[in-house]
Amino acid sequence: MKKPELINLPKIVDPRGNLSFFESPRQLPFEIARTYWIYNVPGGENRGSHAFKEQQEFIIALSGSFDIVLHDGSEEVKFSLNRSYYGLFIPRLYWRRLENFSTNALALIVSDKHFDEKDYIRDFEKFKKLRNEQ
Ligand code: TYD
Repeated sequence: MKKPELINLPKIVDPRGNLSFFESPRQLPFEIARTYWIYNVPGGENRGSHAFKEQQEFIIALSGSFDIVLHDGSEEVKFSLNRSYYGLFIPRLYWRRLENFSTNALALIVSDKHFDEKDYIRDFEKFKKLRNEQ
């Protein structure tokens, strides 16, 4: 099973403003099939609270900050994202919760799969069972 990983991205510092990027396979360990973003999250709200059977994702805080809490079926690890020049790679079969969004936080997410509700695991007990069978 792959492990979650913070991936540092190139940062081209320029007096006109900085520029960062990622491309596969150099910074990103998968080909991108879909991009979406989460924004306008009211204070105190959480996103996520599910796992994916197959899908892998890479999440960047393009603006503001938030925390991603990952559960691998036995323990939880928290990652704080607050810069636009690194992101979190999340392999398949990790339960994730996005929380503690700052005002104006913008989460950019890229995935290696098209949207498919059947790939979601939304029941934590089912997730733990499936994860521990792997
Ligand atoms: P969901 O993945 O549950 O949100 P969160 O990011 O908080 O985990 O998605 C919320 C809704 O948006 C759900 O009805 C499915 C829909 N959706 C799409 O139609 N396409 C997408 O690419 C995504 C990510 C969600």
